[in-house]
Amino acid sequence: MFGNTREEILEIEKLKNLVDKNKLPRHIAIIMDGNGRWAKKRFLPRTAGHKEGVERVKEIVKACGNLGIEYLTLYAFSTENWARPKDEVDTLMKLLVEYLRKELDTLHRNNVKIKVLGNIERLPDLPKSEIVRAIEKTKNNKKLILNIALNYGSRDEIIEAVKNIVHDVKYNKIDVEEINKEIFKKYLYTGDQPDPDLLIRTSGEQRVSNFLLYQIAYSEFYFTDTLWPDFKEEHLYKAILEYQKRERRFGKI
Ligand code: FPP
Repeated sequence: MFGNTREEILEIEKLKNLVDKNKLPRHIAIIMDGNGRWAKKRFLPRTAGHKEGVERVKEIVKACGNLGIEYLTLYAFSTENWARPKDEVDTLMKLLVEYLRKELDTLHRNNVKIKVLGNIERLPDLPKSEIVRAIEKTKNNKKLILNIALNYGSRDEIIEAVKNIVHDVKYNKIDVEEINKEIFKKYLYTGDQPDPDLLIRTSGEQRVSNFLLYQIAYSEFYFTDTLWPDFKEEHLYKAILEYQKRERRFGKI
């Protein structure tokens, strides 16, 4: 919280204390949007927005861990993001490598398990090897599962799941009649994880953008105008407080 005045620190603590620890969302998913606009407003290159965005990743992961959130899913790079200018893609990959190199020990000490949602085969060698190392090192951790969606697209994920199911049916690993929601779910990147309770999107856009389409069937959506590089821990507490005000009915009355 470096840089905050005493009053601001007290205000943040107040918000944090208002969060009902018995009604926490188990799984929070975030579409981190608005890095480019944050930079543009400051006459900086777009990559400066991504760099500041990494600072918020660190802050939000820490805040989720401290609160007792069990699963946090961050949309870091979509299958469509490859179409951005090469230097922007390179910077995003570089930031990911730096993040993993600098933060891995801290994440591990704090019992965070890193997982990737997406096909990492298409990633350049360096980010791929750092990711593999991070997954391997943290594989037995239990406190917070941090899913990083990388080269992720939900429709691809669903199609891949269907292909794998067809394969398993063909080789008699499962019977067609056995396929149900629970079995299908296991073929997605999120596997046995609970579905997101809360989906946050920053920067004022109100779209799902090919993110966790199957998993968000009953998620609560929280859209905020705040740009991702400005989304600090107090904004997370506000989102959770809003979530806790909502009544979740899952189609029942
Ligand atoms: C959207 O902003 C953000 C992204 C496409 C990338 C998000 C990546 C990070 C925050 C950094 C890397 C992540 C990790 C986990 C270390 P935008 O560029 O679409 O913004 P705009 O809509 O304002 O142009």
